[in-house]
Amino acid sequence: MFHKPLDVIFPNPPAGLDFHALDPERVPEHVAVIMDGNGRWAKKRALNRLKGHKAGIEAVRETIRCASDTGVRYLTIYSFSTENWKRPEEEVTGLMDLFAKTMLAEVDGLHEENVRVRTIGDLSKLPRETREAFDEAWEKTKDNTGMTLLVAVNYGSRQEILRAVQACVREAVLQGEQTGELPAVTEELFERGLYTADVPDPDLVIRTSGEMRISNFLLWQVAYSEFYCTDVLWPDFNRYDFLRALLDYQSRDRRFGAVQ
Ligand code: IPE
Ligand code: IPE
Ligand code: MG
Repeated sequence: MFHKPLDVIFPNPPAGLDFHALDPERVPEHVAVIMDGNGRWAKKRALNRLKGHKAGIEAVRETIRCASDTGVRYLTIYSFSTENWKRPEEEVTGLMDLFAKTMLAEVDGLHEENVRVRTIGDLSKLPRETREAFDEAWEKTKDNTGMTLLVAVNYGSRQEILRAVQACVREAVLQGEQTGELPAVTEELFERGLYTADVPDPDLVIRTSGEMRISNFLLWQVAYSEFYCTDVLWPDFNRYDFLRALLDYQSRDRRFGAVQ
């Protein structure tokens, strides 16, 4: 269901891009985005990489609004991976600072849009200010009923899977002590240990900047997701690029292993 008229959501569509083709009944429930290309965007302009990350904030803002307006229920944005600690210290510190400041600056607007802000990933390793900004956003927005925004920060799918396995083992030991038998490790039991336990799997994964790889993102959850890759660098990504991704998604034939 669209929450605003399409000509309000998409006021100046480029020639040839027809938003009327968007089917309100087939908007993906969960869209996950690998926001890539900030560094290359900055390099093209002879700017510091952090300037690229700052420029990417506007694209995040626009994507959140557009997803919420078009009726997406869950939007996951890959903001910092468990491997991104390998970057220069200055960039990592700058990113953590940017996350904290942006979250504090945006939370009221997100709350007004009825968005619920939560995180996936290991927040215990983040600087205190950054962790607190995310915690505050969750506290303020947790009762909202609109779109859920999942910010993947210090997120790595392998780490998440190991964490879920540990939870399964703990459960097995507990049950084993009580009943003398080990429980069956089912998909349901395993998924309860994932950060995304109560979230449907992504229907659509978008990656910007021309790369076609998953970079340790939601490995379990993307088993049957549709992929959309675009050459657009993340800071240049806008609502019309998001619309292109939605239209492309709606042209796909999802089979989940069955025959048509
Ligand atoms: C994505 O942009 C943002 C983060 C990973 C935090 P990059 O910083 O990876 O940009 P490129 O890939 O170097 O262009
Ligand atoms: C993936 O981008 C992580 C995020 C978007 C946060 P990277 O730029 O870190 O991925 P690789 O290193 O190119 O695979
Ligand atoms: Mg990159």
